[in-house]
Amino acid sequence: MIFSTANFCAVELMQNKVFITGGAGYIGSHTCLELLKKGFDVFVFDNLSNGSAQALKRIEEYTDKSINFVCGDITSFEKLKTAMQQYSPNFVIHFAGLKSVSESVLKPMEYYNVNIGGSINLLKAMDLSNCDNIIFSSSATVYGHPKYLPYDELHPVNPINPYGRTKLMFEQILSDWVQSSPSRRAACLRYFNPIGAYKNGMIGEFSKGTPNNLMPFLTQVALGKREFLPVFGDDYETKDGSGERDYIHVVDLAFGHFKTIEKMHALKPFQILNLGTGNSTSVKELITAFENASGKKIDFRVAQRRLGDIAQSWADPSLAEKLLEVKFNRGIGEMCEDSWRWQSQNPNGYEL
Ligand code: NAD
Ligand code: WQD
Repeated sequence: MIFSTANFCAVELMQNKVFITGGAGYIGSHTCLELLKKGFDVFVFDNLSNGSAQALKRIEEYTDKSINFVCGDITSFEKLKTAMQQYSPNFVIHFAGLKSVSESVLKPMEYYNVNIGGSINLLKAMDLSNCDNIIFSSSATVYGHPKYLPYDELHPVNPINPYGRTKLMFEQILSDWVQSSPSRRAACLRYFNPIGAYKNGMIGEFSKGTPNNLMPFLTQVALGKREFLPVFGDDYETKDGSGERDYIHVVDLAFGHFKTIEKMHALKPFQILNLGTGNSTSVKELITAFENASGKKIDFRVAQRRLGDIAQSWADPSLAEKLLEVKFNRGIGEMCEDSWRWQSQNPNGYEL
């Protein structure tokens, strides 16, 4: 197994086994692909509740490399512990979890059980396997309503729903875990709004049921599966009245995980980083960009503001850019083209 960078020391050359929870999902599958391309060995632990074994199969065929896979739930400690002990990874990337804001309000205990209980199981399993390095999928949602923009990592945290609180709580748990042993390291990556898909359209985001997020809804309108896109409010104090977000290409995000592994030794033992572009795009701008990229007309109707929505959110990504030596350059046009290629080639996601 080889790394792509020349400046790794001998010890780090050993660090090539990555245990990925939720690796069959949207961001996880793109990260698996990125890591396989870079020469890592990967192990996916996923209960397939919102992921697909097809994604892993396609990645294996494309890279001509194999992915170790166990279908399991992070709330089942014994299975998680056994998988981890058999694999003995150097790194864990923790994507597995529930991620719908609205569902978290209706079913908070499920969110705490999986996102907190399951994540604690993961740390316990890591301890038993002497694995000291974890990258955690956190979210910009931990910031809550902006006191100022762009959000930097020092912005106060105040999540406004159970989902966001599970993300913040597990960050805090990780901070305590790291402090209890000098060899432990954790990076919490606060993602902004990932969209897009791998260039050839073989993997992408798919939603079981009605999509919650803007891009999957938009692509379903373009496919004719939904009549129109509801635009949740056009009277915000934003550039055109609709909500503004910091969309980041999922391939850039996946690359950010590779860079985090590469730079982990030089980061603080407990490190928080924003992963965003620093650019904001309104809902209406995204619709126009998507129409240009796909050649499809998007019928939209202005609807009421969505409960709990904030008007604007975008990142100050300068800390991640500096520490990880990255610049996320893929623009909105490319994100829309790639989302559309994936969705138009796979109108039913991974289901045939
Ligand atoms: P996803 O739903 O596509 O992927 C999550 C994966 O975890 C799925 O494959 C699912 O089957 C698996 N999973 C869920 N519960 C599990 C459990 N109990 N045991 C084992 N596997 C389980 O979501 P995603 O968009 O790829 O998000 C990945 C992570 O990033 C999540 O933790 C999410 O909260 C976080 N995040 C996502 C976004 C976003 O907009 N997509 C933004 C910020 C943070
Ligand atoms: C983007 C913009 C909507 C759908 C959510 C979570 C957050 C994170 C990412 C995980 C907003 C508008 C949306 C629609 C619309 N996930 N919109 N019509 O709200 O920034 O973040 O996903 O951590 O935690 O809260 O993303 O894609 O839902 O919305 O007008 O049908 O699109 O109002 O302005 P959001 P989103």
